[in-house]
Amino acid sequence: MREKIEADGGDRRRRAVLCGVGGYLPPTVVTNDELAVRLDTSDEWIRSRTGIRTRHVVEPGVATSDLAVPAGAEALRSAGVDLGGHRPVDMVIVATSTPDHHCPATAPAVASRLGLPAVPAFDVAAVCSGFVYGLALADGVIASGMAERVLLIGADTFSTILDSTDRGTAAVFGDGAGAVVLRAGEADEPGALHTVELGSDGALADLITIRAGGSRHPGRDEVIDQADLWFAMRGQAVYRHAVTRMADAARAAMARVGWAPGDVDRFVGHQANIRILDTVGAELGVPAERVYTNVSEVGNTVAASIPLALTDAYNAGELRAGDRVVLSAFGGGATWGAAALTWPDLKN
Ligand code: UT7
Repeated sequence: MREKIEADGGDRRRRAVLCGVGGYLPPTVVTNDELAVRLDTSDEWIRSRTGIRTRHVVEPGVATSDLAVPAGAEALRSAGVDLGGHRPVDMVIVATSTPDHHCPATAPAVASRLGLPAVPAFDVAAVCSGFVYGLALADGVIASGMAERVLLIGADTFSTILDSTDRGTAAVFGDGAGAVVLRAGEADEPGALHTVELGSDGALADLITIRAGGSRHPGRDEVIDQADLWFAMRGQAVYRHAVTRMADAARAAMARVGWAPGDVDRFVGHQANIRILDTVGAELGVPAERVYTNVSEVGNTVAASIPLALTDAYNAGELRAGDRVVLSAFGGGATWGAAALTWPDLKN
């Protein structure tokens, strides 16, 4: 367990420091009105219940790695990483629950296409909490001295696993990828990742699931209901657990680093639903104008959600060097996690 960080920045331990961000959205945009042509829904219902106006979706044949590669390339550029140098990064982590294939992982292909051959590369599957789980891993391998620089990408293409007749999920999810580069640094630098808090409750596995197609029900020797091959979510129950766990995890991260609600310059939560973000912000006591959201344009992009929001907020001038930032997520598993960092002075 990490000790509380002293106000004088006295904790000199080696830390992961954020040094680059990037994002990528597939060009095709679907509006609420377009969804309402094929589903029993309306722009008014979707906007009032979720805050979502549009989402981006991949065209047939486009896979998660096709989004992860440009997002990762932008983050590497933003970090000023020289791809021709000796070991430009020491690890590539892709957080996703829509990998290109069940087997193998997507990260090695992404690393190879980014021009990073022979680098350790693997996927993290924690659904909407995947990016925060990836942050904990990156922090650990950097703090231990195993890595100097890590590329962490959150990427998902939920449009490829949604039941096109299910209005409860079709309205909510969008495709995208977001990425960050973390390097070795010190606790008192802008960009330092101060803490990551994680948790899970497997008793809630059925809240967010694809029932068949895995090793439990492979579908080879049994009759599978086609609906069980699509993503299913118990929306209301997920909503309740998301509010509780995202608030509790963020509170734990703030307590660990000694930040009061008024110390938080930006709360960047998993962009699941504007009502969840507003409620969690209010429960934390963070003023509403400090709760960042881009959910209206991109919907819930799962593991891409937080890094895309960070990229958008930074590009919009809403994250400045030295800002105290709290991240928090809840996702399938169930899994949750939160992190506290100070925003870096990015040059690119
Ligand atoms: O990423 C992991 C975390 N995921 C989330 O955090 C998602 C959390 N859940 C939610 O955001 C919300 O639960 C939803 C947006 C998914 C659903 O909103 P809700 O206010 O919880 O609606 P509900 O599930 O309680 O459904 C109320 C009614 C139902 O109709 P009946 O049974 O009362 O006739 C639904 O069938 O709303 C209906 N409904 C819709 N109606 C119009 C559900 N989706 C839609 C829709 N358009 N798109």
